[in-house]
Amino acid sequence: MTQTWQAPAVATPVRPQPRRRRRRAWWLIPSAVVIVATVVYMVSAYAPPDPETSRVDVSDGMWHYVFLVAHVGFAAVATLTGLLQFWPTLRNRYPKVHRWTGRVYFWGGIFPAIVAVAAIIWTSPSGVSNVIGQYTLLGFWTFTGIAGLRAARARRFADHRKWMIRNYAATLTALVTRPMGIIMLMIVLSQANTPQYQNDQLVILHDMASGGIWLSMMITLGIAEYYIYRKYGNGRRRRA
Ligand code: HEM
Repeated sequence: MTQTWQAPAVATPVRPQPRRRRRRAWWLIPSAVVIVATVVYMVSAYAPPDPETSRVDVSDGMWHYVFLVAHVGFAAVATLTGLLQFWPTLRNRYPKVHRWTGRVYFWGGIFPAIVAVAAIIWTSPSGVSNVIGQYTLLGFWTFTGIAGLRAARARRFADHRKWMIRNYAATLTALVTRPMGIIMLMIVLSQANTPQYQNDQLVILHDMASGGIWLSMMITLGIAEYYIYRKYGNGRRRRA
């Protein structure tokens, strides 16, 4: 029997691996507090339902109020369940809960909220630019929602994540329009006496509302695209 020579085993020194630092999404908690507080404020005028406390003029008929309250209720469900979906612990440790709250987000949140508000957007007293802005946002909400749902069902989870970031940015646009309305009001009021406005309250209201919706949309959707690009865009960054 021939014996083959074997090199003596040399113990290779084990290099201590640097501990992989888990990057925590520290901004989730303050964002969640602001989002929940804003939703509570927005919903407070409609729960319990009373047309007298509505912040929107619903004097054109009870049907308007019914659609409005339905929209507010479903939209609030969407905002709160959507917030849960971004919680990394929920996604990673409790995927079943993530799936169920996701179903509530779609079927008890955005889709019924879209149907309810689509019926009343055209009644807005704030002018055509505002109405077109609202329908644009609604279209984006619908499109990204369907794309996100289809991607999840086809198990294309990378696509699903991106579509849902865009979709939730659209959800949050409705919240951002509130402070943005105040900023717009200050900008427009500072020019109320100029020849452009001539203290015309209707023109001031239209500009405030349409500037508010378009600016809010640009900001939230822009941030969402930037976030997607940074997190998934260049392939060098680690996925959550
Ligand atoms: C993102 C798509 C959304 C669009 C296009 C949209 C559009 C609208 C429109 C046009 C109105 C006024 C309806 C009327 O004149 O009767 C309205 C009202 C309202 N929406 Fe939405 N909405 C969206 C999402 C949301 C979300 C996510 C919430 C969160 C809770 C929300 C909460 C409300 C509330 C509270 C009102 C009543 C008005 C007020 O009290 O300020 N909406 N929405």
